[in-house]
Amino acid sequence: MSQDEIDIDNASLEQLRDILCNVNGKELLANRFRALFNLKCIGAESTNTEEAEKAITYIADCFQDESELLKHEVAYVLGQTHRLVAAPPLRQVLKDNNQQIMVRHEAAEALGALGDKDSLALLQDYYKNDPSLEIRQTCELAIERIKWEQSEESKTENIEKSLYTSIDPAPPMPSDVESKVEKLQRILNDQDTPLFERYRAMFRLRDLGTDEACLALASGFDDPSALFKHEIAYVFGQICNPVTVPALITVLKRETEAGMVRHEAAEALGAIGTDECTRVLESFLHDDERVVRESAIVALDMVEP
Ligand SMILES: [Fe+2]
Ligand SMILES: [Fe+2]
Repeated sequence: MSQDEIDIDNASLEQLRDILCNVNGKELLANRFRALFNLKCIGAESTNTEEAEKAITYIADCFQDESELLKHEVAYVLGQTHRLVAAPPLRQVLKDNNQQIMVRHEAAEALGALGDKDSLALLQDYYKNDPSLEIRQTCELAIERIKWEQSEESKTENIEKSLYTSIDPAPPMPSDVESKVEKLQRILNDQDTPLFERYRAMFRLRDLGTDEACLALASGFDDPSALFKHEIAYVFGQICNPVTVPALITVLKRETEAGMVRHEAAEALGAIGTDECTRVLESFLHDDERVVRESAIVALDMVEP
């Protein structure tokens, strides 16, 4: 560390904000992600409400940035804080057509993760009227998630405790409703089943986590929806089972694939982190698509010990 470099793990809230928002114009992307992570921990976990809310405000400052990748992560992180003070900036982002689709998607999803009832009317509006399928589907899921959280079933359903602490776009399917991989795969891929149910099957398969469950999830990469495919890649990044590597590489290499899907595949490969993953990621450091290049940088940073 050079003398004027700040130790991110011992930085003040203001220093973290300045790194995240690249105030000096020369912060490395990987450091900006680390600053975001530290701010998120404070925003989500601090028992000092004032400090937590300040961290959340500082995180939201980053929505002025250009990097689609960083901003979508900012939106994601805000959705994981359990604090409704994060909702107003997220609503603003969903409404802002100058923001990229992946960022607006993540903002809508985050409103669902926060269980923000006050956003229901806005989400309904974008569910019905947004021209982007990814946004409409995200709003559909967020609405269903908020309704589910308010429902009686959410209190009585037999949901197995998950290994993962993330707040997901849908809860896993109750274990007494379905635990057979074959049946879950059928629900996962059934275009006539509501998306929320299909996501519930997806998260149940994630929680089962066996090789068989992973291969069932990989069949979701043939879905027509970029949103759906990016979520499959996301759960592969959580499971970190190397059996998913071939499917992730195929998706990352598909040039016709949406950036949001390829991005998530790259990050999952970073999380799995085998030598093969590293080699493949290195070959995407100069990809034509910015969000893929930046994902390769961040993913390789995850691999580093
Ligand atoms: Fe997402
Ligand atoms: Fe992502």
